[in-house]
Amino acid sequence: MVVLVGNVAASGSYVKSKAAAAGRVGIDAEVVHVPESASTAELVALVSAIGRDERGPADGILVQLPLPAHVDAVAVLDAVPPDQDVDGFHPENAGLLSQGRPRFIPCTAAGVQRMLVDAGIETRGRHAVIVGRSDIVGKPLALLLAGRGPGGDATVSLCHSRTADLAALTRQADILIAAVGSPRLITADMIKTGATVIDVGINRIEEEGRSRLVGDVDHDPVAAVAGALSPVPGGVGPLTVVMLLENTLRAARQRLGLAEA
Ligand code: GUN
Repeated sequence: MVVLVGNVAASGSYVKSKAAAAGRVGIDAEVVHVPESASTAELVALVSAIGRDERGPADGILVQLPLPAHVDAVAVLDAVPPDQDVDGFHPENAGLLSQGRPRFIPCTAAGVQRMLVDAGIETRGRHAVIVGRSDIVGKPLALLLAGRGPGGDATVSLCHSRTADLAALTRQADILIAAVGSPRLITADMIKTGATVIDVGINRIEEEGRSRLVGDVDHDPVAAVAGALSPVPGGVGPLTVVMLLENTLRAARQRLGLAEA
């Protein structure tokens, strides 16, 4: 069950692609579209009612972000029952991830790790530099890459807007992940030759009189220096959706008392 609040165009299109992907694999995705004016209390009540199956059974509940500025997003996300929290944003799920025993891993962070593993990029013993400390991507990704096992065992630097001399750190990165929401922040002079660069940013900008999507990485110049670079759009985004479907399947199996697939 997806809760979409208000009329942010990007959120509407993300929700549409999540629901379409769910439909393709046989998951019923119901979207509850709530007006922009909804209060925190109304949203908490709605999410709690979905959690109690009062609006029909839901294995997974997702509240699309961002919520309007007048809403207390933390209160709304905390109202999602942890065993239906397929986004992995509830503090119980964040805590489990931080202890290395994840239940639901936030989808974009999981998607970045999956991309590295599937592309055969070794993380063990490598220096992974993450730019962006959000609860949705940067923080969980730091835990995943520093955790034990495949796609982990990296040495992680978590950089942010107060990092002194960002370029000095990014130039040390064997694996650089940009997840900051700043168009083309990462330029070619910030990359070590041959590094793996993953661009999580999706920024809509006006350029030469038209609207286009660009990442947090200055794509063409960085591609000339990097060993590998994920595209925007079409890179991490589709993997985020797949990880959401995996989390939803996991939630359904847990609800039915079935073993991990
Ligand atoms: N908005 C941007 N990324 C995400 C995400 O991973 N989940 C949700 N619910 N909203 C988002």
